Amino acid sequence: MDMKNFALIILLSVLIASCQEGNQKAISTEKKVVATPHIQASDATQQEGQNLFKQYCISCHLTTPDALKKDKMLAPPIGRVVEHYKGTFSDKTGFVNAVVNWANKPNQDAVLMPGAARKFGLMPPMPIGNDNLKKIANYMFDADFNQSGNMNHKATGKLQLNDGKKWTLEKNDVDQVHQAISLLHNTNIKDVTDYQQTGNKVFNAARKILLNKKYEGKTLQHVQVFFHQIEDDMHHLMSVKTKAEGEKYRELVLNKMMKFDSYFSSKE
Ligand code: HEC
Repeated sequence: MDMKNFALIILLSVLIASCQEGNQKAISTEKKVVATPHIQASDATQQEGQNLFKQYCISCHLTTPDALKKDKMLAPPIGRVVEHYKGTFSDKTGFVNAVVNWANKPNQDAVLMPGAARKFGLMPPMPIGNDNLKKIANYMFDADFNQSGNMNHKATGKLQLNDGKKWTLEKNDVDQVHQAISLLHNTNIKDVTDYQQTGNKVFNAARKILLNKKYEGKTLQHVQVFFHQIEDDMHHLMSVKTKAEGEKYRELVLNKMMKFDSYFSSKE
């Protein structure tokens, strides 16, 4: 073996070793000493939840987002996760169940944070027992993670046409959006759960597009910008508690979704 090949092999093995180290870090559940000043651990259960969180979740989900470490993050900061779940599930029981179900079995079709799923990949399952997961979820609900505004995750940029033409998406995806829009047009909704279901359908359509690996670069950026400005309203619609609220968010989401056809069209 000549010197050049030898050097190459050394370089490769160093690279492989450091990759493995990176992976181990990603799944490490070791306790780390992390300052969590915003937590109001009121009682023993809450304290237990916090400890379990530190043991199993904090290695990926930071409690205090640090802009300097932004590029090294393995998952969204936990405050962002909590924000999404609180916005989507109207009460603590719903929130806790959703977190427990998720951690047992992360599932592409249940993702509430499609942007994070694309960026970081799907979370590995954490089957550490429902009791533990419930304590963690309760702690997540009660803790104050003090979301600081300097970690804005939203895709930024202005919605524009693609050189005067619309961005083309797959026909299936566009059809789903159109179906969601026609549901939103229904003004005879009777039940709060109907509003919630409409919200779910709209979000399903958005999730499908946001997770579609065929969209990259500028197309992806534009669908992200488009759906991010509706995101909070969509989540509200999924968890409305009264008809009046349902009506408010139905209209808000509808008005924003109606702009879809100005920017996107289907391939065929
Ligand atoms: C190995 C890294 C890792 C660990 C450990 C981890 N997560 Fe995650 N988690 C992720 C990533 C990556 C995402 C974002 C992608 C996604 O949604 O799957 C995520 C997303 C989430 C979400 C939002 C899912 C959604 O709807 O999009 C919840 C809730 C969550 N994690 C809870 C937990 C809890 C609770 C624990 C501890 C028991 C935990 N995670 C431990 C990596 C991790």
